[in-house]
Amino acid sequence: MPATTLSCLRQRELLLEPGTNYTMTQNSWDELATGWDARADTRLYAERAFESWNRKIAPLVSDLTESRVLDFGCGTGLLTEKLAPLCGHIVAVDISAAMIDVLQSKVINKRIGNITPLVTAIDTAAINENPELSEKFDVVVASSVCGFLPDYNLTLRDLSSTLKPGGLFVQWDWLSEMPIERIRGAYKESGLINLGVEEAFAMTMEDESMPVVLGVARSPI
Ligand SMILES: C[S@@+](CC[C@H](N)C(=O)[O-])C[C@H]1O[C@@H](n2cnc3c(N)ncnc32)[C@H](O)[C@@H]1O
Repeated sequence: MPATTLSCLRQRELLLEPGTNYTMTQNSWDELATGWDARADTRLYAERAFESWNRKIAPLVSDLTESRVLDFGCGTGLLTEKLAPLCGHIVAVDISAAMIDVLQSKVINKRIGNITPLVTAIDTAAINENPELSEKFDVVVASSVCGFLPDYNLTLRDLSSTLKPGGLFVQWDWLSEMPIERIRGAYKESGLINLGVEEAFAMTMEDESMPVVLGVARSPI
């Protein structure tokens, strides 16, 4: 999650009674959608994620121009837009209708022909019932979303079921929320082949350096 969002969460936590847990709901994400693209840190996070894609992921994939890519938890599509020129087609999904509205407007205004925005969670029913999800993907990306899932391992199993044999799963998350061992364990449990889980970059918030972990795994052939 970009640092400003974390900052928002901390501010909300301060407003809550001590001991009250604050968790992000679909509505909380909806509230953040309008200002998302105007924030310097959300844009910087996407830029750094894309830089790390070019450094670490691009060498693993030859040519994506015919590929089908799933961007899970795409938000307003800050990373989706950067990946789109490299990819055949991107199905960009999010549970927040407001986030998807922002992406849909950009797709129309910028005439981006290869992004299909979709409001949906990812579970077995959604995958089976929606033809956009049931056709297998070459790559699944998840940028700053896995740390917010109620059951990361379960969703990872669902996401890995959408991959073609040999397809890639790529995730970026705050290291503090998604320790490296947790990610490695989830890859093993879901049958994915771990290609590397490591710190990719760091964001600075209130003089604090917040490392971001990049995890990459492959679906067995
Ligand atoms: C921190 S934002 C990241 C957005 C985008 N990937 C980016 O890097 O700018 C997290 C996004 O994940 C979405 N999200 C959270 N839980 C989700 C779920 N269970 N299924 C799909 N999207 C989810 C939120 O609505 C939000 O848009």
